[in-house]
Amino acid sequence: MNHPVRTRVAVVGAGPAGLLLARLLHLSGIDCVVLESRDRAYVEQRQRAGILEQGTVDTLRRAGAAARLEQQGMPHDGIELRFGGNRHRIDFPALADGCRVWVYAQTEVVKDLIALQLEDGAPLYFDAPVHAVQGADTDTCVVHYTHEGQTRALSCDYVIGCDGFHGIVRRAVPAQATQVHERTYPYSWLGILADAPPAYEELIYAHSERGFALASMRSPSVSRLYLQVPNGEHPAAWSERRIWDELDLRLGADTTWRLNRGPITAKSVLPMRSWVTEPMRHGRILLAGDAAHIVPPTGAKGLNLATSDVTVLAEALIRLYDSGSAELLDAYSDTCLRRVWRAEHFSYFMTTTLHTAPGQSSFDTRLQLSQLDRIATSPHAASELAANYTGTVPHDSGRNS
Ligand code: PHB
Repeated sequence: MNHPVRTRVAVVGAGPAGLLLARLLHLSGIDCVVLESRDRAYVEQRQRAGILEQGTVDTLRRAGAAARLEQQGMPHDGIELRFGGNRHRIDFPALADGCRVWVYAQTEVVKDLIALQLEDGAPLYFDAPVHAVQGADTDTCVVHYTHEGQTRALSCDYVIGCDGFHGIVRRAVPAQATQVHERTYPYSWLGILADAPPAYEELIYAHSERGFALASMRSPSVSRLYLQVPNGEHPAAWSERRIWDELDLRLGADTTWRLNRGPITAKSVLPMRSWVTEPMRHGRILLAGDAAHIVPPTGAKGLNLATSDVTVLAEALIRLYDSGSAELLDAYSDTCLRRVWRAEHFSYFMTTTLHTAPGQSSFDTRLQLSQLDRIATSPHAASELAANYTGTVPHDSGRNS
């Protein structure tokens, strides 16, 4: 394999952000190289969320990466909120200008993008950990990495950190040049995949005295379900029986409705965190996706934010290389952060409205129920939720709208 020693854009991380950026740059004839520290099987199997906003689907279409999504993705026109014995549907097209979302797992998006890139795309190296990024403040950046037992150096104009929350690229930015904003939550999610047809057509977000539960899906025969659990919980503490019984209780199973049970094929505990590092650029280093911001999964925003970052970034780099104008690139961080903070607020709102914190007072619970009741009875409040969930709140071009 002939490893390039120079490229225009070095992309670190082959998750959805890095792969999609590489695809968009490649389609515009901009040289790039993608370096991923893990192997291909790991990247393709890592379980993540599965809700795509309209804008995300549009970008995947533009990238020529939506063939399987068109066939297997499941368009959803609403979600159901369950709380205090009520069931309330949020109708997206009616409340958010005809918009909807798609259920299509992030793992599938990643598989589609990897297949495309290996077939026709920029170099993509797996098992290629980056050790250091040098020269963010100079004319040329150098990325030092290892591949096939050899230490290598790649010079480039820009390094894009798409390497997630634990990524290495961010560490090349001096601490005094960034500000970090963070909130942790006193609960986690236990997530399962089950070979069981979902007993519901749309996602169910349930507030209950026993804690939050979410019923999602991966296909007509595979359910994806989540339970709020205490931080530090071990998945082994949850037998299959206990999981199904608890899901039924929190989702309000009764004589007319209950979950379809089936073999559980994956089980893991996910922490919840809100976290933003600002700005998203330092000299020749730019951060995108989870390397720059984390949202708790309750609003299903993580993958959509990552997609939105790289859409803005691809346009900025294309403008720079086509016309020499750095205007969009200089605005990259501000442009993205407007949307990021909206998603941070929405994810925080969904999380704190639907979960029960340890030792929560009855006052706090009554506030949550009052807020949910407001959403169920006020088209205005429901529209706000629908616009945020479908990602149709104006951000970049919408200062005046
Ligand atoms: C998922 O299907 O994994 C999922 C859906 C909605 C969320 C979070 C996760 O809010």
